Parts: sequence; C-alpha cells; structure tokens
Amino acid sequence: MREHFEWVGFTLWASAALLASTASFAAPPIQPNSMGLSKGSVFEVPEPKVSHYPATPPGESKVLPRAYSGAPPQVSHDVSEFLPITAQNNMCIACHNQPAQWGKKLEKGAPTPIPPSHYTDQRNAPGKLTENLVGARYNCNQCHVPQADAPVLMENTFASGRQH
Ligand code: HEC
Ligand code: HEC
Repeated sequence: MREHFEWVGFTLWASAALLASTASFAAPPIQPNSMGLSKGSVFEVPEPKVSHYPATPPGESKVLPRAYSGAPPQVSHDVSEFLPITAQNNMCIACHNQPAQWGKKLEKGAPTPIPPSHYTDQRNAPGKLTENLVGARYNCNQCHVPQADAPVLMENTFASGRQH
C-alpha cells in the first residue's frame, strides 16, 4: 500500500517537472509595441498630426492626375465654402454645370464642365443624354474629394497601368 503512494507521488513530481521544462521553451510573449501596424505601444494614445486640405481657390489650382482611366477626378481646389451640399444649395453645380463647353478648349481658370455621363441615367436609360443633371450625380463629394496632406500610413503599390 505504502509503495503505491510513493509511486503516485513520484509520478506527480515527474509531471510537474516536465510541465515546468516545457514552459521554459514556450514562445516569448508578444510585446505591446509589436501587436499591430502601429509603431508605438498599444497602450499609447497617439495624437495624430492635423492634416490640411488645399486652400487654393477654384481657378488657381492645377488639376490632379487621375488614379486610373475612368476614375472620378479629385477636386484640386478648396471646397470648404461649398460644403455641405444640400437639396437647396449646390455650389459645385453653379460653377461646373457648363454643357455648352463640352468638347471646347477651356480658358485658363475655367471650371471643367460636368461630363455628359452625369446627364445620362446609367441605370434606366444608358446612352441617352438628358438636359438635366441626373439625380444620382447630385451629391458630388460622394465621388469627388479633395486630397489632404495626411501622411500615408501604409504604402500602396497600386499602379493605374496608364500614362497620364
Ligand atoms: C467658383 C467656381 C467653382 C466652384 C464653386 C467649384 N468648382 Fe470645381 N473647379 C473650378 C475650376 C475653375 C476648376 C479647374 C481647376 C482650377 O482652375 O482651379 C475646378 C476643378 C474641379 C475638379 C477637377 C476636374 C478635373 O478635370 O480634374 C473637380 C473634380 C471639381 N472641380 C469638383 C468640384 C466640386 C465637387 C465642387 C463642389 C464641392 C466644386 N468643384 C466647386 C471651379 C469651381
Ligand atoms: C457616382 C459618382 C459621381 C458623382 C456623384 C459625381 N461624379 Fe463627376 N465624375 C465621376 C466619374 C467616375 C468621372 C470620370 C468619368 C466620366 O467622365 O464620367 C467624373 C468626371 C467628372 C468631371 C471631369 C470631366 C472631364 O471632362 O474631365 C467633372 C468636372 C465632374 N465629374 C464634376 C462633378 C460634379 C460637379 C458633380 C456633382 C454635381 C459630380 N461630378 C458628381 C463620378 C461622379
């Protein structure tokens, strides 16, 4: 009987020793500053730098390159005075609604006319040009946005495959 107890005792001791030795081979814990893409510790509350949108007024800015063929062009000028767009007020249309300028060479500082695609109901009547701007294009800044000087958090290797 006594021998039996000693045997059980030995087995327990051996398993504890084995556990302890495996524990020392376990991977080291992940450090709080290497848990994500952020360069600092996850416990830090970093204050992001304030970024700025261009202050260049319309007529003085230089149009930006397109990301790819068919991409909505970015707004190159200041829009702070023109937003928000409301049902009663759309300043973008006031300047850009210039169908008479389609296909013409624009004078320096003239607004790029809203293209024919925006006067076509792409869903119900594709290919049919209408006189009025289609409602789906009313909220310009849903697709056209200015570019802030915020630093890129992750580099992007996307290439348009097109020369501008
Ligand atoms: C006071 C007139 C005016 C207003 C208002 C205005 N724009 Fe412009 N916009 C221009 C002019 C002029 C240009 C050509 C670039 C320049 O000369 O600054 C331009 C350029 C652009 C371009 C670039 C076109 C291209 O070919 O790349 C986009 C997109 C644009 N505007 C969108 C908007 C949006 C969206 C709004 C409303 C939030 C707006 N604009 C309000 C005058 C205006
Ligand atoms: C649903 C997305 C969408 C909305 C909303 C939209 N656009 Fe566009 N816009 C585009 C795309 C995509 C292009 C480029 C392809 C094309 O010309 O149709 C474009 C092109 C343009 C261009 C360049 C034309 C040229 O000849 O180079 C101007 C200017 C423009 N849009 C102004 C506006 C204005 C002003 C509004 C609001 C009244 C507006 N857009 C609303 C998607 C949009």
